[in-house]
Amino acid sequence: MIGRYDRISFYLNLLIMSEKNNSPIRILGIETSCDETGVAIYDEHSGIVGHQLYSQVKLHQTYGGVVPELASRDHVRKILPLIEATLNQANMTKSDISAIAYTQGPGLIGALLVGATVAKSLAFAWQVPAIGIHHLEGHLLAPLLEDKSPKYPFLALLVSGGHSMLVDVKGLGDYDIIGESIDDAAGEAFDKTAKLLELGYPGGPLLAKLAEKGEGNEIKFPRPMTDRPGLDFSFSGLKTFAANRIYASDGSEQSKANIAEAFQEAVIDTLAIKCKRALKQTGYSQLVVAGGVSANTYLREQLALLMEKLNGEVFYPRLEYCTDNGAMIAYAGFCQFKLLDRQDVSHQIEVRPRWPLSNG
Ligand code: KG4
Ligand code: ZN
Repeated sequence: MIGRYDRISFYLNLLIMSEKNNSPIRILGIETSCDETGVAIYDEHSGIVGHQLYSQVKLHQTYGGVVPELASRDHVRKILPLIEATLNQANMTKSDISAIAYTQGPGLIGALLVGATVAKSLAFAWQVPAIGIHHLEGHLLAPLLEDKSPKYPFLALLVSGGHSMLVDVKGLGDYDIIGESIDDAAGEAFDKTAKLLELGYPGGPLLAKLAEKGEGNEIKFPRPMTDRPGLDFSFSGLKTFAANRIYASDGSEQSKANIAEAFQEAVIDTLAIKCKRALKQTGYSQLVVAGGVSANTYLREQLALLMEKLNGEVFYPRLEYCTDNGAMIAYAGFCQFKLLDRQDVSHQIEVRPRWPLSNG
């Protein structure tokens, strides 16, 4: 429901926007869905002109994982100073901003509420629209920030801590999920296996580092759900397989590295097999890989090899835009702003901790 005051402020916004029409579109993006506070400004001519990121890794390390309430409180502490720093970095003031994009979901409810409340309050004060962004759409569009970027339509492999999916990206906002994990996400499997290997948090990058020391020994992990048709994934069994291997091993650093290497190979191999299938099914020759796990070097090598064989192209965000960040939210906000269909004119603060990406 849009109330009387919401409508008045909407028309005010339109008036102000029409005054700003001659100035370039600049979107302030705010990301607070999990354990990173990310802020950035996207300028329609210059791209990302300000980018600040604060990672809560140290805060959660003691607990071996993200503590939601601590995450929310830390976002509260960091968000306004980061917005100020981003404006300074871009040499801009609030009057240069055309709209504020924020992660509306999915994610941790308290963390999302911090970003949404700040975004909506500033949008009200600055008299600009607020745009709620789907976190995964942010990841998915991040490779479009690069010089070498894909053209619609393309296949996207989204691999983060909470999601693993293959998406048929037909155009902006037109997303069909054609495969997804039926249990753990790829990043989650990395994190849980890293915990079993006593590597600490965040596990994914630490496991990947340890895997480099592997000696390519005889341990062979299964490639789950590749022996049957379909594009879904299942990664939770790999973690159990790893637990058994760790239990049976001599506990030496070398054994751990060998297990990490074999585990990583199994996850990446499985992802590559499903990507190949999905490319065949869709007929696309462009593959976009995004989300935290897309920072993995071995994954990048393997998918580069696959796309070379298939005569196709693979696209990634730069490393700093693989994991959570404000740049991807600012850019997704810019894309939505141009469409003018996702501008939220109500002052109600509403987040969506669970929010499907798909069209259906
Ligand atoms: O996209 P992201 O920052 O947050 C979510 O939206 O979930 O992804 C975080 C996930 C974590 O599970 C982390 O362990 C994993 O990405 N990750 C990696 C690497 N870097 C981050 N996994 C494997 N290798 C990496 N280099
Ligand atoms: Zn993410």
